[in-house]
Amino acid sequence: LLSFWNCHSSSRCTSSFGIAFDIDGVILRGQNPIGNSPAALKRLCHDYSGNLKIPFLFLTNGGGTPESRRAIEMSQLLGVKILPSQVVQGHSSFRSLLNRFENDFIVATGKGEPELVMSEYGFRNVISLDDYASYFDNIDPVAQYKSWKVRQESNMLPFSMKSIQDVSLDRVKAAFIVSDPVDWGRDIQVLCDILSSRGLLGGEEEHQPPLFFAADDLQYQAAFPSERLGIGAFRIALESVFNRIHDKPLECTVFGKPNPFVFRNAEAILRHIWAFSCHGNAIRPEDEDSSSHSFKTLYMIGDNPLVDIKGALQAGHPWFSILTRTGVFRQTENHPEYPADVVVDTVAEAVDFILERES
Ligand code: G3P
Ligand code: MG
Repeated sequence: LLSFWNCHSSSRCTSSFGIAFDIDGVILRGQNPIGNSPAALKRLCHDYSGNLKIPFLFLTNGGGTPESRRAIEMSQLLGVKILPSQVVQGHSSFRSLLNRFENDFIVATGKGEPELVMSEYGFRNVISLDDYASYFDNIDPVAQYKSWKVRQESNMLPFSMKSIQDVSLDRVKAAFIVSDPVDWGRDIQVLCDILSSRGLLGGEEEHQPPLFFAADDLQYQAAFPSERLGIGAFRIALESVFNRIHDKPLECTVFGKPNPFVFRNAEAILRHIWAFSCHGNAIRPEDEDSSSHSFKTLYMIGDNPLVDIKGALQAGHPWFSILTRTGVFRQTENHPEYPADVVVDTVAEAVDFILERES
């Protein structure tokens, strides 16, 4: 497999290809590896030390966990050392909004630890929707009927500990849907409140605070046999309700696949991973060494034609799409609207195909 690296006399290598793996429906279903994914990934690594034969990363629209923690979880589940830089989640692009909202009071929601995700990116004044809602008595009129409990205040991060006055008076400057919301009813209610142009408690009319979604998947493959509603389904629900009760339609910005910038960003990260693998040193984005490297082919292995394959098709050269039958897509024939370059049964077959094609 070393032949996949075309090494010069020095330590400098040229790898002509890299791979982006979707996670849900390709690598995992829920917490379970599928399609022989651990063995497929091991073929791309020298050993557990993290040295790579082939540069690869995970390009998922999922999230809710900081990349550093997700890398540890993925390493444990797959038996392959995964670095944080190899994990690109839907919300990873929120980093690009840091200049705009670094010190602003912002709300983050979704499964996992949305406020921790945002604070690790550098946002300094973030509060989870759970914590935000807990400051307002009766904000959720059906809370008493819910059998689950939200986190106790003692678990709140220090930077999100605000007085009731601060929270009531401080207008939320932006809302971030970091991952799949857990309590859709409560989140729709509270987001309709805080995104109203008059604010939660009916103040002066202003613009709607900006709203950002980490992804827009209508459905995705989780542990249940058929697809589950994703973050895009939540957007439709929120938008439908908001637009019925407010005069101005909801405005929002959606990140994640299939946006072409996600694929451009993945390409840049793969170049740094390539440089790291070859030189054993982290290369800074501004270093010419990695930024000048160009891949002949980048493979996107996904299970969702409307997200993974559409994204690779829109991104164009050097992306090459491989569709697996382990998730959202199950048909024999290629997808009619967004046909992949190749259709295979599993991720292991996809890696076989790539290594054969590149040998
Ligand atoms: O919530 C996860 C889902 O939106 C899709 O994840 O890995 O298939 O992009 P993935
Ligand atoms: Mg998927």
